[in-house]
Amino acid sequence: MSILFHGGSKTFHIWNQDVSYVMMILPNGQLGQLYFGKRIHDREDFSDLLELAPRAMASCPWMGNKEFSLEHVKLELPSYGSGDFRAPAVEIRQGDGSRISDFQYTSHRIEDGKPGLAGLPATYVEEASNAQTLVVELKDPLTGIKAELSYTVFTQGAALAKNVRYVNEGDQAVWLERAMSLCLDLPDSLYEWVQLSGAWARERHMVSRKLAPGIQSIGSMRGHSSHHHNPFLALKRPCTTEDHGEAIGVSLVYSGNFLMQAEVDVHGSARVLAGIHPDTFSWKLEPGEAFQTPEAVTVYSSEGLNGMSQAFHKLYQRCLARGEWRDKVRPILINNWEATYFDFDEEKLLEIAKKAASCGVEMFVLDDGWFGRRDSELAGLGDWVANKDRLPHGIAGLAKKIGQLGMKFGLWFEPEMVNLDSDLYRSHPDWKLEVPGRASCHGRNQFVLDFSRKEVVDAIYGMMADILQEADVSYIKWDMNRSMTEVFSKAIPADRQGEVFHRYILGVYDLYDRLTSNFPHILFESCASGGGRFDPGMLYYAPQAWTSDNTDAVERMKIQYGSSLCYPISSIGSHVSTSPNHQMNRKTPLRTRANVAYFGTFGYELDLNRMSEEELEEVKEQIAFMKEYRSILQFGTFYRLKSPFEGNEMAWMVVSQDQKTAIVGWYRVLNQINGSFTRVKLKGLLEDTCYENSQDGARHYGDEWMHLGLRTSDVTAGEVPAGKEPSNDFESKIYVLKAVE
Ligand code: DGJ
Repeated sequence: MSILFHGGSKTFHIWNQDVSYVMMILPNGQLGQLYFGKRIHDREDFSDLLELAPRAMASCPWMGNKEFSLEHVKLELPSYGSGDFRAPAVEIRQGDGSRISDFQYTSHRIEDGKPGLAGLPATYVEEASNAQTLVVELKDPLTGIKAELSYTVFTQGAALAKNVRYVNEGDQAVWLERAMSLCLDLPDSLYEWVQLSGAWARERHMVSRKLAPGIQSIGSMRGHSSHHHNPFLALKRPCTTEDHGEAIGVSLVYSGNFLMQAEVDVHGSARVLAGIHPDTFSWKLEPGEAFQTPEAVTVYSSEGLNGMSQAFHKLYQRCLARGEWRDKVRPILINNWEATYFDFDEEKLLEIAKKAASCGVEMFVLDDGWFGRRDSELAGLGDWVANKDRLPHGIAGLAKKIGQLGMKFGLWFEPEMVNLDSDLYRSHPDWKLEVPGRASCHGRNQFVLDFSRKEVVDAIYGMMADILQEADVSYIKWDMNRSMTEVFSKAIPADRQGEVFHRYILGVYDLYDRLTSNFPHILFESCASGGGRFDPGMLYYAPQAWTSDNTDAVERMKIQYGSSLCYPISSIGSHVSTSPNHQMNRKTPLRTRANVAYFGTFGYELDLNRMSEEELEEVKEQIAFMKEYRSILQFGTFYRLKSPFEGNEMAWMVVSQDQKTAIVGWYRVLNQINGSFTRVKLKGLLEDTCYENSQDGARHYGDEWMHLGLRTSDVTAGEVPAGKEPSNDFESKIYVLKAVE
């Protein structure tokens, strides 16, 4: 790993064994981009990569020179209005109304390690020797605005982290109208764009299309990263598969409004931008003030989409998630939401917990409804004090009784919200985000607190901390159940209202920071009506996230498969729920519900008292299986094998670090009669090692499992041979392969 500056040619080369990134100070003083991709040898001068050519109609800065035009060069911090007509990475509105800027190189520094980002989540390293950071300083001479562009490369992995910090070193206030975190100018546009899109209860489905001339984009203006589009995109070559070919992944470490776009220009190059959504953003920078953009992470893979995902998984597992739980296997929990909804008291909860404890469940999580007058969605949010009618011994009393059953105790909060029917709202009506004089939309009958105000965050922290100091709480599920509307803060002046969305998210991060610092033993699971804020920003504070409110095993195949494109298996909250399923009304076998949930944090979302003895035996076996293999399932190397978006079957697998154990999950949605003979080619095994298959004891070398494949066809469909169980819809199997000496 190294970052080099070649003074003679004014080029920077950032590289490690997997990736290279090359930039140069352009003849006009701006910072240009020359290459991003697989690692290449270093050389003194890469300036021949600068593509200059006289083109008719181009806007050029120097009289007599028709070759150098910002319209054609690849740029690191492009702005609009001086010859580059593509979408800009920065836009600064000045006092006189001008929006033109010209960021010129002034200096750079190269340091070991990676500095943190004030107030924002970001990747980090524990040892300075594990990363190097280049900070290039640019300045717009007329306004005095300085831009510090930071680039970090890690010792391992083809990932680069980038952010920009603006400082007003001038003597006039300006407004940042656009401050993107990343600009990647790719020399060609022969890519397919893959995004993770959906809606509530069907989040992160893989959607792809060919890049075409013009702008294609995804984003959120809902105040949270959203169920609808995830702050992630992949660009892959048309021939790229899961295992072969080039892919570039872009991920934004941010939980609020975002924009990701690719603009294909007339010459076929593609500009990728990622950052805070400019349509809901305007930030006033007074002289002396600074603004920090979120971090964007780009990954290059020459080994297909699996290679890209594995690079994200490793980075996000070890260098983004933090705290005591980062590297630990996750407790198997039972959550009472789908078992009781709002209809519970202490006795009922303890009954659920007792049965769960007897099956080997390790943690009981009390969901919504334990506080204030929260008998329905209409009341109570904001009053974080136990409802003594339901819980006569309070949270501390319940947690103690759960502890006596040998289980840990977890608790649900929705800290950012308020109901009109709450003591909090009655005493602080001005803490609600709203435009004075206008009606406000509710979402699930609730309103959003103005987390851009420190006193609001202080008050919520105080109530939460009181509970956490008094009760033995090992886990928090932090929920957020509506999008933001009528966004306006009564605490800041008119010319700063464009800051509220971002200030709100900074408030959310502040509360997370205080809680995770002061209660470091607590495992956090983020949630936003399921997967409405499943993003890298959240992962920094909460190493796992509730993936979706949809707990149906068939729907979860697509949701979890899509999520795995960027997010590690240890972050994917997954539970076995009852059948028929509450969201889809679909009946699926208990084994298939577990076989999907194993590829995540694993738990139950039902009342085990309502199960038969036979089912309970199965549950005990599932829990024992998960306990034995969760370190591999959650922290092994994950491979997608067969896509649920392309057919009736899905398969994925994980391989242990030493490659001696592999767990394969195979799933078929609808049963088939007289169907094809099917095989799945496995990945990541040792070619010369013999593995035994847990399903039938078959032994084959790794090369056979990988090149010839694992037979998955089901002979029982159709005529069922004597002694064989007939197969059915929603069939699945787990194969454990172990190396034999
Ligand atoms: C939405 C979450 O996604 C559910 O799991 C549950 O916690 C409910 N909110 C409770 O209101």
